[in-house]
Amino acid sequence: MLKILNIIGARPQIIKAAAISRAIKNHFSKQIEDIIVHTGQHYDENMSEVFFTEMGIPSPKYNLNVGSATHGVQTAEMIKGIESIIFSEKPNVVLVYGDTNSTLASALAAAKLHAPVAHVEAGLRSFNKCMPEEINRITCDHASTLLFSPTDTGIKNLEREGFNINSEKPYNIDNPGVFHCGDVMYDNSLYFSEISTTKSYVIEKYKLEKNNFVLATIHRDNNTDNPTRLKQIFEAIIKINKDYSIPFFIPLHPRTSNILEKNVGEELYNKIKNNKNLIIVPPVSFFDMLQLESNTRLIMTDSGGVQKEAYFFKKPCIILRSETEWVEIVKNGNAIICDAGYNKIMEAWTVFNSNTNLEYLQIFGDGKASEFICNKLVETFA
Ligand code: UD1
Ligand code: UDP
Repeated sequence: MLKILNIIGARPQIIKAAAISRAIKNHFSKQIEDIIVHTGQHYDENMSEVFFTEMGIPSPKYNLNVGSATHGVQTAEMIKGIESIIFSEKPNVVLVYGDTNSTLASALAAAKLHAPVAHVEAGLRSFNKCMPEEINRITCDHASTLLFSPTDTGIKNLEREGFNINSEKPYNIDNPGVFHCGDVMYDNSLYFSEISTTKSYVIEKYKLEKNNFVLATIHRDNNTDNPTRLKQIFEAIIKINKDYSIPFFIPLHPRTSNILEKNVGEELYNKIKNNKNLIIVPPVSFFDMLQLESNTRLIMTDSGGVQKEAYFFKKPCIILRSETEWVEIVKNGNAIICDAGYNKIMEAWTVFNSNTNLEYLQIFGDGKASEFICNKLVETFA
């Protein structure tokens, strides 16, 4: 029996782990023991627990309850906790997702103890090392034994960094296996989108008109913590709402809601608060999110995952960042990088408002990335 330590911590990782745990339950239950570790990086009910319940993820065997702190303190606490679990559980492999501090801590703790690391969402690069996530993903990739890239671009990035993308078994940290396997988030969207139509009432609850509202999410630190950027984003939202009479639905990450009033200033904050067509709510569940994404006219976001989901649901996307790891969606014309620029956002809105005939090629796999990953884990480590 292959013992995996399946480490999650932030909202998107919990969601990604749902796809892996489902594949284990349905196809690998006799071969894989799935030990889930929650670092506690995200802890509010609507940032963590809701996803376990809704998506049927097994309860974590361990929760480190690390919570919020500076990067150093948070990462250090996680490393300590994960190290001690690796000592006691002696897993065959440590499975990590994405690019958060939970990913970094897991990879460092495991690699130093010679526990092989398997990285889901390997190879993605923004080429912007001011992003904490860029440091996390590069470090994690270079400490991994199996690297699972969702896209072709991810594979090319790894090759450019010196990885042998045609390496052969036996894999180890000095001869890692690199695989292009599709996207576990695409697996989830395919699996849950039908189910969410009967489980989520968010469209009805907020009286949203299908294809006549904009879904927006904002949580990236360089947007939330920079008053100029945050103001420009909200000024553009208010302008589009006013000129095109289109409501905005904005499930706001706690990081953003904690700082919104302070960073946009009293005048703009009052305009936002008193506009009943800017529906700002706490984070919503994944099923609600799927319904919002599939019924929206357009998505504005600085989230990595939400950019991709916009693509899965064939919705144009305004990216509130200066670059993206998901370059394919920009190359295909389905998303436009606007950074936090008021004018760029307005221009992109005009482009998408007049061109509704976008083509969405199948670039995120076939919905079976999780099974591929489990298969490789068994083949390599069992
Ligand atoms: C983290 C990830 C980011 C990812 C995002 C997903 C890092 C460096 N960043 O950013 O890559 O896109 O998660 O959502 O790992 N907070 C709460 N309740 C919670 C969680 C957070 O109130 O349950 C607030 C706290 O004030 C905290 C702040 O949000 O200080 C930021 O949380 P943190 O996990 O440090 O970073 P995120 O911005 O969530
Ligand atoms: N998400 C959610 N509820 C919300 C906002 C996002 O369920 O209110 C989901 C979203 O559908 C996607 C994931 O969270 O699957 C993206 O996570 P997030 O934006 O927090 O992080 P990122 O992907 O940028 O790391």
